[in-house]
Amino acid sequence: MAHTPGFYVFEGLDGSGKSSLTVRVLDLLSSKHVPAICFAEPTRYESGLYLRKFLSGEIELTPEKQIEAFLSDREVSLQKNILPSLSEKKIVLLDRYMYSTAAYQSGENFSAKEILQKNLDRGFPEPELIFYLEIEPEDALARLKGRDTTKDRFETISALKKIKNAYEEILPENTIRLNAKLSPEELPKLVLEKIRY
Ligand code: TYD
Repeated sequence: MAHTPGFYVFEGLDGSGKSSLTVRVLDLLSSKHVPAICFAEPTRYESGLYLRKFLSGEIELTPEKQIEAFLSDREVSLQKNILPSLSEKKIVLLDRYMYSTAAYQSGENFSAKEILQKNLDRGFPEPELIFYLEIEPEDALARLKGRDTTKDRFETISALKKIKNAYEEILPENTIRLNAKLSPEELPKLVLEKIRY
């Protein structure tokens, strides 16, 4: 399928530094007066808040329901955030997308490839590039422990190892791999070299 110009996705394990990288890239683009915006999934809409309850352990969902809920939230993310901004010719930087569902929700019931295909079958557009922050699960967990935030359900060594392997199965050829250990100044510059603006 054709890639969507102006649409860039950031992926990586919890603790990889993906969210702060996304914001730094936005700041760099803004300093160059390039129209750009950043969003994250799960969204801040009702469908995303419902997922946050699952992530924090407040509610349980079967693997099938998890996939369904992430896909529903993605529909909202596209309709309310991503597509309108792309129509306004803004560069869209998105913190997590369908590759997260494939990596995180895969397991005994569904393979990462099957989950990715479910997303593509819904007609969700493929981004121009995916920036994947590479980090070892041990290092990711060490970084998470240093943070002053509540723990999400995937923040264990066994979960992070599974997720990393699943990412390896599904990341497409338009993925740019970045070493998460590079400095917070260096990483956004590397990203900017790959973005067309
Ligand atoms: P994250 O992106 O790290 O944001 P925050 O810093 O706000 O916690 O956390 C989102 C969590 O949601 C992360 O553990 C991965 C998980 N997730 C899925 O399991 N499936 C998905 O499809 C998405 C988008 C996220």
